[in-house]
Amino acid sequence: MTLAILNGPNLNLLGEREPSIYGRQSFDQYFSRLCERYPQHQLVQQQENEEGKLVAALQHWGGKADGIILNPAAFSHTSIAVADAVAALKIPVVEVHISNLYRREGFRQQSYVSAYAAGLISGLGLHGYALAVEWFGMPGTTAIPD
Ligand code: DQA
Repeated sequence: MTLAILNGPNLNLLGEREPSIYGRQSFDQYFSRLCERYPQHQLVQQQENEEGKLVAALQHWGGKADGIILNPAAFSHTSIAVADAVAALKIPVVEVHISNLYRREGFRQQSYVSAYAAGLISGLGLHGYALAVEWFGMPGTTAIPD
């Protein structure tokens, strides 16, 4: 299965950015371990700081991948454009947040994307991406959610 992991703004700073919240590992380090752990899947990753580029990445991988694992980062809470791009996809999207949004500031407790995601993983650190990969590997998960 081809799974695209798409990360939104500031996630290029993982490992340096607020390590008490996001940990000390860069995404590149984590991603190589993920690829080693799931050789049965073709995993690709892309990070974008700009809203339009994240929309373009969703459209691009929506036509090429079997599923998308999306951490929209701050755009979760602000971007109807990113939410609309997710709504338009014909493949399932799992929304991942490294931190637990519900233990943080009130403005993080609304994600426009969640209504269009197959599911949401929040607060389990970088393991959330691996858990999303596991879900895609389970039977019956490639159907378009109702
Ligand atoms: C985040 C949570 C968002 O509120 C924040 O803007 C991020 C990262 C997370 O992975 O916990 O950049 O999506």
